[in-house]
This record gives sequence, structure tokens and C-alpha cells, in this order.
Amino acid sequence: MLVLGIESSCDDCSVAVVEDGKKILSNIIATQIDMHKPFNGVVPEIASRTHTEWIYPVVEESLSKAGIVKEDLDGIAVTNRPGLVGSLLVGLSFAKGLSWSLGIPFIAVDHIRAHLYAPHLEYHIEYPYVGLLVSGGHTIISKVSGFDDIDVMGTTIDDACGEAFDKVAKYYNFGYPGGVIIDKMAEKGNPKAFQFPKPNLHKGDHTYDVSYSGLKTAVINQLDQFHNKEFEKTPENIAASFQKTAIDILIKRLKKAMNDTGIKRVVCGGGVTANTYFRKAVKAIHEIEAYYPSLELCTDNGAMIAAIGYHYLKNEIFSDLHTNAMARVSSFRRKYP
Ligand code: KG4
Ligand code: ZN
Repeated sequence: MLVLGIESSCDDCSVAVVEDGKKILSNIIATQIDMHKPFNGVVPEIASRTHTEWIYPVVEESLSKAGIVKEDLDGIAVTNRPGLVGSLLVGLSFAKGLSWSLGIPFIAVDHIRAHLYAPHLEYHIEYPYVGLLVSGGHTIISKVSGFDDIDVMGTTIDDACGEAFDKVAKYYNFGYPGGVIIDKMAEKGNPKAFQFPKPNLHKGDHTYDVSYSGLKTAVINQLDQFHNKEFEKTPENIAASFQKTAIDILIKRLKKAMNDTGIKRVVCGGGVTANTYFRKAVKAIHEIEAYYPSLELCTDNGAMIAAIGYHYLKNEIFSDLHTNAMARVSSFRRKYP
């Protein structure tokens, strides 16, 4: 079964062709980084306008790289949530039009679910596992017992982890995209230069939750207060100290989730899981089985959309033409306290 996957939730215009939910025949990712760089962040209006210009050629390129024509497709999967509505609408409308004109079904998917599913494209992964989803807008720790059986254990109570990377980078003019740049700068910095505070959420009901607004405020507004005077106050030292604190917060909750559930398998997905220190920190956890997507599949991409869409399409679960784009709704649900 050949599925076209379309992802336009933010600033990447990505289209892939995936066979039987597993074999990537093409995965074109057209990035708008250069367009948003002058603004140090994504400008939604520029993003959606650029998607409207790029979507058709990116679809054509994806089909041609896969060595197929559109008539060979069996179905289309497309992100309809969560993301920037103007950007989502471009991919969604294109998918609706193409599926209608070809007389094939389409399925609208939650791209946050797809991020967590991405490692399944590259590995055979048994259930259950602890799922760790860390992106620009979401931070979710979950217990995953089956393809459609996901219980949220913890989320961020304020900012997402990736958002904190982006906002710190924007404030200090480190450049765009923030997460990638902090990751690079941190290599040359000393993580001991600043001792930033970690949130203390153990006493509440939600013991797996995380928080990033306190860390963000400390890095942006209270830098001197947390400076270890033995080290210089350089951008690299800020980046390294912030990155270590941000990731250590996650690792602590991940370890707790694994200990409490007794599940020694973790599957990671989302842009922040591309982070070098994150990967090292997960690797350093003893006696666990850890899976992450390759770097190309960490951030937004059409392949993960096609892969997850395949499972719905093969079970004849389709979307209809009334399906709309949604900014924040996600299909993750909370069961754990
Ligand atoms: O999953 P994603 O592509 O988009 C969604 O938010 O859905 O994630 C983008 C986020 C951004 O916040 C970006 O700064 C962060 O992932 N990111 C990174 C790295 N690469 C991307 N954060 C830290 N280190 C990285 N290497
Ligand atoms: Zn994403």
C-alpha cells in the first residue's frame, strides 16, 4: 500500500511516500529556515504563504523521487493538528483536493502522535514502552501499551521544552532555529557556569509533570543570580548550562516513570530528541532499551505522517471533507494521576 504523507504544521513543507507503513520511498523536507531567520522565529503568515507556493512542487518531487505517479497512490495521510492553523490548512486542503480528484481516501492525523511513532519506521519495537515526546509545543511522558493505547503520565504544566530552547535563543540573539544552535554552542560551553533552578513538582498530584517557565525566566531575567563566578559569562556557557538543566529535568521524570511502571523500554520522538546531550543522557541510563528517530525523522517530516496514516487507512478509517485544522487539540489522554 502506497501512502503519501503531507506535513505542513509549522515551517517545514514535507511530503513523503511510504510503502506499507515502513519503507520510505521518498521524504522531501523543504525547510523555510532562511525565511524566518531575520525574525529569529517563525512568522505564521510567511509560513502559510510559503506553504501555498511550495506544496505542489514538493508533492511532485516526492512522487518523482519515489519513482511513482500520483495514480499509484492508495491513500493520503496529512497532519491536521496541532500546529499553526494557516500552515496546517495548506497541507490539509491540498490532501483533500488530491484525494477527491484521485478517488482515494485520506486520513487526517495528530502529528504529535506521529512524532512518537517515528522510531517505528526504523526499528521493530515491542510494546509496552515509556513514550517521551519532546517537541517545540509539547512535552509528554506516556505509557504506551499498544498502537492506539497511550496513557499520558505527565506533561509540561507551562512551556514546552523546545519552546524554552527557542525563547532563550531568541532572547540572547543566538540565532534561529534556537534548539539546533544552542545544541552546537553548548559543545563549546561549560554547563557548570550557571546553576539554574529545577522545578520542584514532587508534592503535587502529577508526579511526572515538568515545567519550563521557571527555568526560562531564570535564564532570561536572573542570569547573575545563578552565575558561578569561577566561570566566564559567555553565550556558550549560558547555552551549555541551560541545555543541561532543561534535559536533566526530563531525564529525572523519565527515570521515575520507568522505575514506577517497571518498563525498561523507552521510545523518544520530537525535535528536541535530536539534541546531542539528550541522546547521551538517555544512553547513560543503565539497563534500558532506548529508541530515537534518526535526525531527519526527529523534526517535522511527511514520512512519520504516512507511516502512522497507513495503520488507519488499512483498517478503512478515513477522514471526510469536513475535517478541519486544529491549533492545539491532541489525541493524547491523561489516565495517570
Ligand atoms: O518536533 P518539532 O520539529 O516541531 C513541533 O514542535 O512539533 O520540534 C521543533 C522543536 C523546536 O523547539 C526546536 O528548537 C527543537 O525542536 N529542536 C532542538 C534540536 N533540534 C530541534 N532542541 C534542542 N536540540 C536540538 N538539536
Ligand atoms: Zn512537530
